[in-house]
Amino acid sequence: MKKVITYGTFDLLHEGHINILRRAKELGDYLIVGVTSDSFDRGRGKLNVRNNVLERVEAVKATGYADEVIIEDYLGQKIDDIQRYNADIFAIGSDWEGKFDYLNEYCKVVYLPRTEGISSTMLREQTEEVFRIGIIGSGRIAKRFVPESKVVNSAKVTAVFNPDKKSASEFGEKFGLKTFYDCFDDFLKEVDAVYIASPHLTHYGYTRQSLHAGKHVLCEIPFMLSACQARELYNYADTHNLVLLEASKTAFCPSFNHLVTLVKSGVIGDVVDVKTSLSKMVTAPTRELDATQAGGAMNEHAPLNMMAIIKLLGKDFSKVEFYSKVENGVDIYTKADICYPHATASMTLGIGVKTEGNMIISGTKGYVYVPAPWWLTDFFEIRYEDQTKNKMYFYSYDGEGLRYEIQEFMSMIVNHRKNSYKLRCIESIAIAEVIERFNKKVNYNEI
Ligand code: CTP
Repeated sequence: MKKVITYGTFDLLHEGHINILRRAKELGDYLIVGVTSDSFDRGRGKLNVRNNVLERVEAVKATGYADEVIIEDYLGQKIDDIQRYNADIFAIGSDWEGKFDYLNEYCKVVYLPRTEGISSTMLREQTEEVFRIGIIGSGRIAKRFVPESKVVNSAKVTAVFNPDKKSASEFGEKFGLKTFYDCFDDFLKEVDAVYIASPHLTHYGYTRQSLHAGKHVLCEIPFMLSACQARELYNYADTHNLVLLEASKTAFCPSFNHLVTLVKSGVIGDVVDVKTSLSKMVTAPTRELDATQAGGAMNEHAPLNMMAIIKLLGKDFSKVEFYSKVENGVDIYTKADICYPHATASMTLGIGVKTEGNMIISGTKGYVYVPAPWWLTDFFEIRYEDQTKNKMYFYSYDGEGLRYEIQEFMSMIVNHRKNSYKLRCIESIAIAEVIERFNKKVNYNEI
């Protein structure tokens, strides 16, 4: 029996796919089709696949050409599969001509003619529901947003608002966007959703105005500086069927999500302590060192660190104690101790004090070590007393990492989802609560 094996994503199954499967089947007696897993596609930067793996497998089965369907989940798997299934022929479309010659060592490689004029990419573009996104603010983070949004389905950045005319026009020109600087309402009329990347103290006002104008909102960190503001806005969004999401980029990264699910599945036993640290040195003049603009290490870095602590230990902390080193009215360093009934946590944050930016999660069976910069997670290790049991995990962190939060935001809009399990509204409110306690100097000590 001659066995043929072929691979693909097979998203929005089309005539080109049906033809290639038929041609591949004609090469032998038995056809094995490898369909990429969702995480494999995400890992190789293919974020815009429309059908999930189950839907794609069903579509391939429905063609009637596949005798067996398998899932492709890792790089190098083709070699394993060819040997495991004793495949005689590896078949793939001619768009891959030459790219799989290395498989000749294991079986015969055949490039089959590709069907002209159709592809999943084309179908995705034709059927895509596009949402116009307006950016509020045109500083450092906003600049990273536009290129990152290009790899996400349904997102099209069309306008920018900044009361500073020069900054708005330069940004608009650089990215080919419609520019607004004097009338916020005119800007809102031009968009379906906004990304707020303006100074901290403007977040509440811009979010409120945008929601009241019926726009979905993705707001940068620190999301809100008080829990009641956060609660009010989430309630408004909920009752008006709008998406409101805190742009806590690490919360949406596949590697961080996997870290959380591994820990929650008990690989290090019960979690007893979480230590996180993040420092970025800044020099004056900058808004981070400006007390009138809600500067300081806490406002700047607590959102990501508290997010990690809350994802791992929950939002029901019992006590938070702050220790800060202050210069010119802003904390250049803060250490916060967070107590839970069942665990402890701490975060060490700096903008004028350098710390080692790692994260350590300690449990009753072992610990997880995430080296600096933990918030751009691409590697972590689970370590045990018996070091032979240690396990390392590697991931790719694509681009600037903003694509994952943009993808979640767009997916919530398209699928009418108002809460993200990756960062729930109540978790986001709890983060704002800690920041509020700090700014109100509750359990606050200067060192
Ligand atoms: N294929 C084909 N003719 C097309 C499109 C795809 O023969 N018009 C083949 C590919 O060469 C590959 C298989 O179908 O052997 C699966 O390809 P896949 O990447 O899933 O399909 P595309 O439509 O090319 O997807 P995308 O646009 O996302 O790259």
